[in-house]
Amino acid sequence: MGDNDELLGRVNDVNWFHSIPLRDGLVTPGQDNSMDKLGQVCLPEDLTGKTVLDIGAWDGFFSFQAEKNGAKRVLATDHFSWSGPGWGTKDGFNLAHEVLNSKVESMEIDAMAITPENVGKFDVVLFLGVLYHLQDPMGGLRVAADVCDELLIIETHVDDLHRWKPSMVYFPGDSLNNDDTNYWAPNVAAMRGMLKDLGFSRVEVVYPKRPWLRYAWPVRFLSAIKGVLERRGPFRQTINQGRMSFHAYR
Ligand SMILES: C[S@@+](CC[C@H](N)C(=O)[O-])C[C@H]1O[C@@H](n2cnc3c(N)ncnc32)[C@H](O)[C@@H]1O
Repeated sequence: MGDNDELLGRVNDVNWFHSIPLRDGLVTPGQDNSMDKLGQVCLPEDLTGKTVLDIGAWDGFFSFQAEKNGAKRVLATDHFSWSGPGWGTKDGFNLAHEVLNSKVESMEIDAMAITPENVGKFDVVLFLGVLYHLQDPMGGLRVAADVCDELLIIETHVDDLHRWKPSMVYFPGDSLNNDDTNYWAPNVAAMRGMLKDLGFSRVEVVYPKRPWLRYAWPVRFLSAIKGVLERRGPFRQTINQGRMSFHAYR
C-alpha cells in the first residue's frame, strides 16, 4: 500500500482497540495505550524460534510484536471482539496484518473453546486482559495452561491486594469499570496458587516491578485517589485494586 492518504482513510474507518505503529508517524488510534502495556507485560525481546499463541488478540498488537521479536510462528485467536457480542471487529487485525506484511496466523475461536487438539501446543502463551472477563477464571487459566509448553504470560486486573491469603473478588453487574463483561479479580496469592496447581513450577510478578511496595497502604491510598479522579470507582473499591502481569514457567 503506497498512498499514505488512502491508508489513513482505511485506518480511520476502523474502530480500534490497540495503538499499533503501522508506519513512521502512523499509529492506529486505539483507546489502549499498547506501548505502555508492552512494557508492563515484559514480552521477551528475543522470541527467536518460539511458537506463540495470543488468546484474545483483538487488533493483534501483541501478536505482531511477538512476530517482530522473532517468533517462528504466531497464532492470534479471538471471538468476542472479532464477531462475538463485543463492540470490536476483526477489521483492525486484518488491516494491520496487511500493512505490516505479517505472517501471523489467525483463528476465530472463543477463549474457553481452545484445546491442544484444535490449536496445538505453543512455547509461549499470551493471556492478556482476558482473565477477568471469564465467568470461570480457573477454567480459563486451565485452557491456557493446557496449550502452554514453556511460558504463560498473564496480564490482569487484581484486587484484595491487602490480603496475603489467596482470594478472588466477584463483580456483580457492571460494578468494575462500568463493564458487565468484567467478573473476577484475583489477588497475588490466588494467582500464584492457581498457576502452581496447574503445574507451573515458578510464578513471577513482572509488573509492577516492586510488587511488595504495591501492597503498602500509602501506595494503595495514592492509587485509589487516582482511581477516583479517573472515575474508575469509589475509593473503598479501588484502594485494593490494580493491574499486574505474571510470568508462569513450566
Ligand atoms: C481488554 S481486551 C485485551 C486484548 C489484548 N489481549 C490486550 O491485552 O491488549 C480483552 C480481550 O478478551 C477477549 N475476550 C474473550 N472472552 C471474553 C469475554 N467473555 N468477554 C469479554 N472479552 C472477552 C476479547 O475479545 C478481547 O480480545
